[in-house]
Amino acid sequence: MMESMIRDFSLASKGHEKISWVDHYMPTLNAIGSMLKEKQTFKGKTIAISVHLEAKTAYLAKVLHRAGAHVVVTGSNPLSTQDDVAAALVDDGLTVYSWYNATNDEYFTFLNKALDHHPDIIIDDGGDLVHLLHTTRADARENIIGGTEETTTGVNRLRGLDKGGALQFPMIAANDSYCKYLFDNRYGTGQSTWDGIMRTTNLTVVGKRVVVAGYGWCGRGCAMRAKGLGAHVIVTEVDPIKAIEAVFDGFEVMTMEEAAKIGDIFVTLTGCENVIRGEHMKNMKDGAVMANAGHFDVEINKKELEQMTVGHFEARHNIEGYTLPNGHIINLIAEGRLVNLAAGDGHPAEIMDLSFAVQAMAAKYLLEHYQKLENHVYVLPHTIDTEIANIKLASMGYQIDSLTDKQRAYLNLD
Ligand code: NAI
Repeated sequence: MMESMIRDFSLASKGHEKISWVDHYMPTLNAIGSMLKEKQTFKGKTIAISVHLEAKTAYLAKVLHRAGAHVVVTGSNPLSTQDDVAAALVDDGLTVYSWYNATNDEYFTFLNKALDHHPDIIIDDGGDLVHLLHTTRADARENIIGGTEETTTGVNRLRGLDKGGALQFPMIAANDSYCKYLFDNRYGTGQSTWDGIMRTTNLTVVGKRVVVAGYGWCGRGCAMRAKGLGAHVIVTEVDPIKAIEAVFDGFEVMTMEEAAKIGDIFVTLTGCENVIRGEHMKNMKDGAVMANAGHFDVEINKKELEQMTVGHFEARHNIEGYTLPNGHIINLIAEGRLVNLAAGDGHPAEIMDLSFAVQAMAAKYLLEHYQKLENHVYVLPHTIDTEIANIKLASMGYQIDSLTDKQRAYLNLD
């Protein structure tokens, strides 16, 4: 057994406390976990997980471990690992390679260490494990039957590989299940982005001009919650259809060039690069705050910010202040890394209950179907979404009607 690499094992009890808190609010994952545990579905299999290593993801890792898997966990972002949670997992017998504030080299060392276990299944978040398995770590592919991908950016990277015929094993786009993106990307990001921004800045949102870049699933949630907090919300987009949606949802739509001049708080959620650039920052108001909630820290151009700044200082914990030549100070939260995780605890447990129910079911699906799958990106069958939704709904105490046979025939359903 290879040794774990974590920051401080003595933090385990704090980590256990965090994990048992979320466990209580994840009934869907618990129900699925009990079924998997009873059948020991993953006995003899190694699952490598690259995730934002905090309490909810740790709980998913534990569920898979209890279902018989040898689980190896690594981070998916240098700033999102919680050291106490990592310690708790090691205490529970899982193998972990990750710590908070890893350097780039350490981050990739950890991913490689996870791949040294030659996993049967990978659970990826952002596509870094898949990338390594298709480049420098082809040797670690020998046992792979497939994997799952948690987020939009990772799925975009996978589709790129798939389009070029380069994908070497089947991947399930967990992100693209209804029970994932409709809730996690929208309501999860909506709440946790504001939690991260508010707890880090300790400033008001009410009355502020909030600029939301990208009106996809994450952007919709972020804009919706900003409005609920009393902000005046401006949306920037590149897709004319999403822009119309934003207008009809009651938001102002304009270019970043215009928004930069009037915004107080900027949040990028596009999955694209260079969304806020030097040419925008130079026109920002004194005291403007920038944060990113997209997967990679490429949406706010830090290089251009650093080049144009005449002074750089820690404005507050996890906030860097940059003084511009015109004397304005503009602030960047958590180095432009995804703010809800690098400056918060990520999505609420009840939301990740659905996302990780999808992940657990996706791993099971892979195990049961990999022989029939080709090296493409797949979305789980809708029946699995429905099964997860039924468990969630029941756990929340809601009941809904069901169709009669006659109604099904009327709707031309099987
Ligand atoms: P999406 O594809 O639904 O939406 C992205 C939107 O951004 C699209 O409407 C697109 O037209 C727009 N966009 C692209 N380039 C733009 C630009 N230069 N300027 C303005 N708008 C632009 O994607 P989704 O699901 O909303 O995800 C967005 C990002 O957030 C991804 O990187 C994803 O991986 C990440 N994500 C982060 C989470 C978190 O916890 N912080 C949770 C889920 C996803």
